[in-house]
Amino acid sequence: MGYSRADYAGKPVIAIINTWSDINPCHSHFRQRAEEVKRGIWQAGGFPVEMPAMSLSEPFQKPTTMLYRNLLAMETEELLRSYPADGCVLLGGCDKTTPALLMGALAMDLPTLFVPAGPMLRGNWNGVTLGSGSDTWKYWAELRAGNITEQDWQGIEDGIARSPGHCMTMGTASTMTAVVEAIGMCLSGASSIPAPDSRHAQMASLSGRRIVEMVWQDLKPSEIVTPAAIDNGVRTALALSGSTNAIVHLIALARRAGHALSLDRYDELARSTPVLANIRPSGQYLMEDFYYAGGLRAMLAQMGDLLDTSTLTVDGRTLGENLAGARVFNDDVIRPRDKPLVARDGLAVLRGNLAPDGAVIKPPPRSRTCCAIPAAPWCSATTTTWRRASTTRGWTSMPAA
Ligand code: FES
Repeated sequence: MGYSRADYAGKPVIAIINTWSDINPCHSHFRQRAEEVKRGIWQAGGFPVEMPAMSLSEPFQKPTTMLYRNLLAMETEELLRSYPADGCVLLGGCDKTTPALLMGALAMDLPTLFVPAGPMLRGNWNGVTLGSGSDTWKYWAELRAGNITEQDWQGIEDGIARSPGHCMTMGTASTMTAVVEAIGMCLSGASSIPAPDSRHAQMASLSGRRIVEMVWQDLKPSEIVTPAAIDNGVRTALALSGSTNAIVHLIALARRAGHALSLDRYDELARSTPVLANIRPSGQYLMEDFYYAGGLRAMLAQMGDLLDTSTLTVDGRTLGENLAGARVFNDDVIRPRDKPLVARDGLAVLRGNLAPDGAVIKPPPRSRTCCAIPAAPWCSATTTTWRRASTTRGWTSMPAA
């Protein structure tokens, strides 16, 4: 391979697990980012080894990438087990890649640092701001209804994903990368940086430098992913009004770290967590706006005592130390605690005759004030009405009136 002994002898070997693929638009910048991570590793005195891993491309892999999350987790674990790595950097972001990579790394418990892909820029079509995912379905329905032309649809297709990066709405990707940051497994502030922003490249090389230090410090995920850190992740997903898929992934992540996380715990934390991020589909803005408003650090700082800020992060500092000085620059995008998008119950765990083991519902924000009221408008729209049981924790299903 052309390396001399001086290139690697006595140096930490850092595996860069790269989920780049020609068929994953969310990771199309990862070949370049891997080079930037390597730059940081070399500078800090490490020896980088890039290892390709399966890319779970949400738009193209059918029937669902969910079928392959555990396969990528196993691949990550086995790459780290079978090759002589001292530490690893994980490049992921498109929906299931984030939990998959972390699950594999947690199982190995080598010093690990996650580099989030970052959200893509806002979509744009004829001056209309487009959000990935929700606007795809919306305008597809409009096309089928004859309300827009095929030419309009082509323009929407061209404008909805106009840069590298993962979906810029608060879907699974934005939720899970933020959760990873709140748990402490990526550099503070990393998850909100848009993928094409030059600061994203800076973050990648900083991650490379930091992972080498982590190896010398022997700072492992088992010291970072504690029950308190997992609660911070859950609270963060709730304050973002994040994807309900995050529940499935967080439970799996927690278990890989050797900790229990139940649906009931999620429900319990939802009761006291306000929704502060005004991001589509629950809110109004997109991830690019969130970044300009201060990003996740600013929102976590707003959450204050809802988080355990004594938890350790990959930075080698506590979460609280990382949040010092974080500011909100647009309080309509990142709401203050006394002016939340939703005061509490942004999500509820339901139990009843249709779902004896539990189900999850995320009421739409405009009717969220009804959450504590039985027979609320949003819950009477289906053939089964879901109601919070007055005597028990959780919700119960009732026949529709
Ligand atoms: Fe990759 Fe949405 S398609 S995150």
